[in-house]
Amino acid sequence: MQSAGESHQGHPEGAGGGTPAGDSGHRTAAVIPAAGRGIRLGPGAPKALRALSGTPMLVHAVRAMARSRAVSLVVVVAPPDGADEVRRLLDEHTGPAETSTDIVVVPGGETRQDSVRLGLAALPDDVDSVLVHDAARPLVPVETVDAVAAAVREGAPAVVPALPVSDTVKEVQVRGNGEAEPVTGTPERSRLRAVQTPQGFELKVLAAAHAQVVREGDGATDDAGMVERLGVEVVVVPGHDEAFKVTRPLDLVLAEAVLARRRATDGF
Ligand code: CTP
Ligand code: MG
Repeated sequence: MQSAGESHQGHPEGAGGGTPAGDSGHRTAAVIPAAGRGIRLGPGAPKALRALSGTPMLVHAVRAMARSRAVSLVVVVAPPDGADEVRRLLDEHTGPAETSTDIVVVPGGETRQDSVRLGLAALPDDVDSVLVHDAARPLVPVETVDAVAAAVREGAPAVVPALPVSDTVKEVQVRGNGEAEPVTGTPERSRLRAVQTPQGFELKVLAAAHAQVVREGDGATDDAGMVERLGVEVVVVPGHDEAFKVTRPLDLVLAEAVLARRRATDGF
């Protein structure tokens, strides 16, 4: 059931060079970690199940992946006790854009890293590359998904979309409790990037990174960070403003505004 607001404007099918699944013998899957509680968003249902413009955030994220012709399988990592509910929601909302994409649901874990690992474990052996995409970034344009998928298919082992940062960033001695925190440094802003998802990987590389974390403990705040620790090169491609993460209540206001603008631009 694809509502009018969901048909994202202005992208030619397969823009960005994503090869249709199967054509090149290269298979790309997406893993969507959606098992978080959404503490920073405030009380309510798990974040991924909250509605944006009447449709669960997770459904928007699944559609964003399924729209990319490069992606033939989507693994959704649901809240540990919510896999059945997520399956039901997805069946209810699956429309023409998703029918050519297999959607699998698995229960998630305590941390994002655990959830991604559980998602990777559900991938079949014939998958060559994987896009890991936060359910909390429901509005990523298909062009960004295609660009990341294409860069991996063209041989990059790890690719992250990112944007230049607009705020100056300070490093501090962390004190907390609202106490004044001494500044220890100011990295040069022009060299900083704020990273988004989907992050794309050769599956073997990401699986090795996760295996290393299981052996040695201590992860990273994103998947690319774990791959960097393996000593594998990670490259950045342009991200997109609309790939922002819904984290705090104000982000919901922005997401609704983006959807309203898409509806207006699409003529609905
Ligand atoms: N995530 C997950 N499993 C967890 C924690 C997070 O799959 N145990 C997912 C979230 O569902 C989200 C993505 O990782 O799609 C990014 O995490 P974040 O934005 O931090 O979401 P939450 O952890 O849900 O939010 P908060 O940190 O505010 O509780
Ligand atoms: Mg979190």
